[in-house]
Amino acid sequence: LENGLAQTPPMGWMPFERFQCTVDCIHFPRDCISESLFKRTADLLVSEGYAAVGFQYLIIDDCWMERIRDTSTQKLLADRKRFPSGMSALSRYIHGRGLKFGIYHDVGQQTCMFRGPGARGHFELDAQTFADWGADYVKLDGCYATESERNRGYPAFGKAMNRTGRTMVYSCSWPFYTEKPDYRLIAKHCNLWRFAEDITDSYTSVFRIMELYRRNQELLLAHAGPGRWNDPDMLVLGNFRLSYDASRLQLAIWSVIAAPLIMTNDLETVRPEIKELLQNREVIAVNQDLLGMPGKCVRASKYFQVWVRPVTPVNDLGQHSFAVAFVNRGGFDACPLCPRNFEVVLERLGLDSPTGYYVVDLFNSSSNMGMFKPNDAFNTRINPEGVTFYKFTVAPLY
Ligand code: GLA
Repeated sequence: LENGLAQTPPMGWMPFERFQCTVDCIHFPRDCISESLFKRTADLLVSEGYAAVGFQYLIIDDCWMERIRDTSTQKLLADRKRFPSGMSALSRYIHGRGLKFGIYHDVGQQTCMFRGPGARGHFELDAQTFADWGADYVKLDGCYATESERNRGYPAFGKAMNRTGRTMVYSCSWPFYTEKPDYRLIAKHCNLWRFAEDITDSYTSVFRIMELYRRNQELLLAHAGPGRWNDPDMLVLGNFRLSYDASRLQLAIWSVIAAPLIMTNDLETVRPEIKELLQNREVIAVNQDLLGMPGKCVRASKYFQVWVRPVTPVNDLGQHSFAVAFVNRGGFDACPLCPRNFEVVLERLGLDSPTGYYVVDLFNSSSNMGMFKPNDAFNTRINPEGVTFYKFTVAPLY
């Protein structure tokens, strides 16, 4: 969508995978979807250094609404018990921290968790309500709607948002609910779009989404770029089930495919080594690279995959640099979960600049691995269900 926003993939935080639809604030005051969770997270995004590396959108997901609209005005209402100060006040709080405010809605009859009314019949009013609340980002889900209602509704709600005069990032779940998505149309109307199922906190889920991308990558790639991004769902780093290596893997692949980096976790309990990964500026720079070209999987076998993204800088011959992720899927007979060595001649990955490349390990940026030419072999040792991730900076001509 060309609205001037999301020129690089949006970065931020969203509660859904971690906190789901927890509404019992009596027994679970720290985990329920409430203004206190969002205020606490806003504070932590700033105080823990996440905002400084780019995580700026704080996005409310489902379960924020009262079950019915205001009976006189028909406006959406925030749950009075869990958001006692109201959405305008929460939005001001978030903006006061220098962050941006996002909110969730559904194009159909009800939200996905069946916790409140969808936008059906109220597009203008709801878009205006979000604009009045100072929203910077709207995630529009697609539950409880028919296919034709979604196909009409996603563009129409976007136009209603546009008519408010407030520019808001538009996140659509449209393709996820569609059998044969028309990505050209979706990219015209949305800044980002969910192409995969809801992520869960596991390597299996991360890998399944990678596979889904890989199988459709030519199509998905063709429509992505500044202002329009494929959304493989949230970063689950910092929760319970991703190993350190799988955490690196998700971050690296999400950066290669230019995915939005939207965390779902409790920022208060993210372990220091995971926080360090999330705040790795070199990796984030790959994700946010200004060429705006998403990458793809260029080699895949039963055990290994290689993912490559063209990135800046570009040399005087017009050849660009690359970020390259080597994945060890595990599963070897002798030892299914051991580190494995992988060797490849760079040319075979498409790294063919005769000037060569300077190589740095993105997870250890002080490492300078020297210069490699296209016909050199590159060796890497990869932990199981993990990744090694390098920047190949193209050398200048002179
Ligand atoms: C759907 C979406 C999720 C989340 C939930 C909320 O499942 O895909 O990301 O928003 O709805 O109910």
